Amino acid sequence: MPLLTLLPAGKTIEATEGKTILEALIAAGENFPAPCGDAANCGACHVFVLDGRKSISKMQRLENERLDAMVGVGSKSRLACLAQIGGENVTIELPRL
Ligand code: FES
Repeated sequence: MPLLTLLPAGKTIEATEGKTILEALIAAGENFPAPCGDAANCGACHVFVLDGRKSISKMQRLENERLDAMVGVGSKSRLACLAQIGGENVTIELPRL
């Protein structure tokens, strides 16, 4: 079971392979903003994937287009509602918490 480390808090939660980062955060009881659920409309679930990027699903066009329209994103940016976790541990930074 992959582990998901949340920065800046340094908290580590268990994730399920194949689930999204958002699903892992909700399952762990984290209070994380996701107003549109998983529709990729709001961009509120933006995170930076710092380690384990190879374990995260490839970015699809919808996510890429949404991120392109946002400010404050970078090469490590992903939308937690669309990025699925693979089998390796991942470290993310939550810019909105
Ligand atoms: S929750 Fe709205 S884009 Fe991810």
